[in-house]
Amino acid sequence: MNKTIFITGASSGLGKATAKLFAAKGWTVIATLRNPEKETELSQLPNVHLLQLDICNTNQIKDVTTKAEQISSVDVLYNNAGYALGGDLEATSAEQIERQINTNFLGTILVTKAFLPYFKKRKNGIIISTSSIAAYIPEPFIAVYGATKAALEMWTASMSFELEKVGISIKTIVPSSMQTSFLGNADMAFEPDYQADFNNYIGKLMSDADSVADKPEDIANVVYDAVTDDKKQLCYFAGNDAIQKYERLKKEGLESVMGDTKKLFFE
Ligand SMILES: NC(=O)c1ccc[n+]([C@@H]2O[C@H](COP(=O)([O-])OP(=O)(O)OC[C@H]3O[C@@H](n4cnc5c(N)ncnc54)[C@H](OP(=O)(O)O)[C@@H]3O)[C@@H](O)[C@H]2O)c1
Repeated sequence: MNKTIFITGASSGLGKATAKLFAAKGWTVIATLRNPEKETELSQLPNVHLLQLDICNTNQIKDVTTKAEQISSVDVLYNNAGYALGGDLEATSAEQIERQINTNFLGTILVTKAFLPYFKKRKNGIIISTSSIAAYIPEPFIAVYGATKAALEMWTASMSFELEKVGISIKTIVPSSMQTSFLGNADMAFEPDYQADFNNYIGKLMSDADSVADKPEDIANVVYDAVTDDKKQLCYFAGNDAIQKYERLKKEGLESVMGDTKKLFFE
């Protein structure tokens, strides 16, 4: 039977790769974007429907949920939209922090809440959210971003109790770095006092990026597995780097892993 996935943040990177993968597998894809009029690739695919959604816009969330359900009953909600706020806290404005939390955490919760009545009525539905390895292993200069993703992890695990009772499953995808526009789309704020440390950090990060960063198409395959494997698995570490980092964290503990981060970036 034809199934339907609803995706947030489908304009680029992992969201777009996932939309294309599910469309290629014969799914109906409801791809949501802040600016659907700019999309030229997904709009060519016959089983992809484009709808406008900024996940910080609560009225739009309500409308788009109704519109999506009119197109087709949604089987899977994929909460993928997100971005990073980088820099030091002193330089970061309250508005920047609010926007980061409202997008990565609150927006994800409110989109999920909007779909729950439909899923509950059908006693069926899968909710997947894109988290990050930064939810498990602290990274310098993205403290609020890491906190939003850690919040998503705990929210997902806690929600699983109430949702299981009504036939809905909830999971996270946990990538490490990916070859997307993510860094370019980051919001940044710096005080001069932290600039040298940041430059050192970002320089090393960028020089490693190509060697460890996963292709979004490979991570989209993990999303597909998480949707179709019928497992009661809460989180899916996605890509070699995320898997290795999490294994090391379990084996050696947080202080040891953070000690290496300090050596790499600050000594
Ligand atoms: N790339 C990495 O290294 C990495 C690592 C771990 C986790 N992640 C996570 O992976 C997810 C996808 O990121 P990506 O790497 O594919 O980066 P990306 O290419 O920058 O994609 C991010 C997507 O989120 C959308 N978005 C941002 N704010 C939004 C809002 N308020 N409402 C609706 N959509 C919004 C963007 O839309 P616009 O085009 O409108 O801006 C874009 O479609 C994010 O949740 C990110 O946190 C990324």
